[in-house]
Amino acid sequence: MSPYALAQLIAPDGKRLVSLSQNESLRPPSPLAIAAAAKALAAGHLYPDPDWGELRAALSGLHGIPAEGILCGNGSMELIACLTQAFADERRAVLAPVHAYPFFRTAAQLARARFDTAPEIDGRVSVDALLQRVRPDTGIVFVANPGNPTGTRLSRDELLRLRKGLRKDILLVIDEAYGEFADHLDEPMFDLAESGDTIILRTFSKAYGLAGMRVGWGLFPGEIAEELRKVMNPNNISVAGQAAATAALADQDYMVETCRQTAVLRDGLQRRLQLAGYDVSESFTNFVLIRMGSPDTARRADEALRAEGVFLRPQGGVGLADCLRVTIGAAENINLAARLLERWAEKEKT
Ligand SMILES: Cc1ncc(COP(=O)(O)O)c(C=O)c1O
Repeated sequence: MSPYALAQLIAPDGKRLVSLSQNESLRPPSPLAIAAAAKALAAGHLYPDPDWGELRAALSGLHGIPAEGILCGNGSMELIACLTQAFADERRAVLAPVHAYPFFRTAAQLARARFDTAPEIDGRVSVDALLQRVRPDTGIVFVANPGNPTGTRLSRDELLRLRKGLRKDILLVIDEAYGEFADHLDEPMFDLAESGDTIILRTFSKAYGLAGMRVGWGLFPGEIAEELRKVMNPNNISVAGQAAATAALADQDYMVETCRQTAVLRDGLQRRLQLAGYDVSESFTNFVLIRMGSPDTARRADEALRAEGVFLRPQGGVGLADCLRVTIGAAENINLAARLLERWAEKEKT
């Protein structure tokens, strides 16, 4: 298998490094989370709570979901990897949309499972295509909603249609890593976990700005949670991570403001790039995807920005070699990226 592609972030001599490549938050964690993590370090000689008691109670209260069904992971990546380890293998394949988050493939390969893909239409997940690609040995279907790197999303009705069309023995994993950026649309999916065959994943890495603390979580049907715990590291989230995440949940205003600032900058960047002639579709996340026209154009534009210390994320790994993804970072960095891309488009015309 090929290694998971990590961002290569080394700025040329004399240039400030501007990373718009990892979908991190545009601002640091809530001050409450920072204070809680610092305080928790005093208990750093003790193993963390293996049941994430306070964090689970806080998640349960906030989302109105049962605490027993919640499992927390060392980032949602751990939960994704444990899901394939527990429920996929040579006889149970994994299916995902063709431009899906690349770690789904890695996780499937780790479990020695076949990874099948279904076509998308203009960067949008197609429920019909997914249903058509289901095979007798399909065991798990992963869908990120909203999607990374496309930024598009399926409505609740479409996800319900997907679930209805899948066999009952197929696990549907709805990865809502960017869910908070779309929560204003008021289409929560947590109730699907009650049916016993669907899992909803979320993370603190994006809207809560805690990517470096590695805290993800999910709502699982009881039997699935029991199986998953068998393959999980029992001490997976540090005391500081658990404390930071619990405190971040208590500061909803801060998280909602992060989403608001992100949306303003994102939509502004989208308009600016469209005016400069770029093809940028609507995004429900903290990034935008630019269609550059061809893989060669994408590569040259990426190189031009790297030469200035600005790192976007090429998308050849998920079959979108003609695209560049731009994470919505701080305003000055987004302005810099927009200016460089405008200049690049001008130069291309001449
Ligand atoms: C769709 C999706 N799922 C999961 C993750 C992993 O998040 P975490 O930091 O919680 O492991 C990412 C990170 O970029 C993502 O884009």
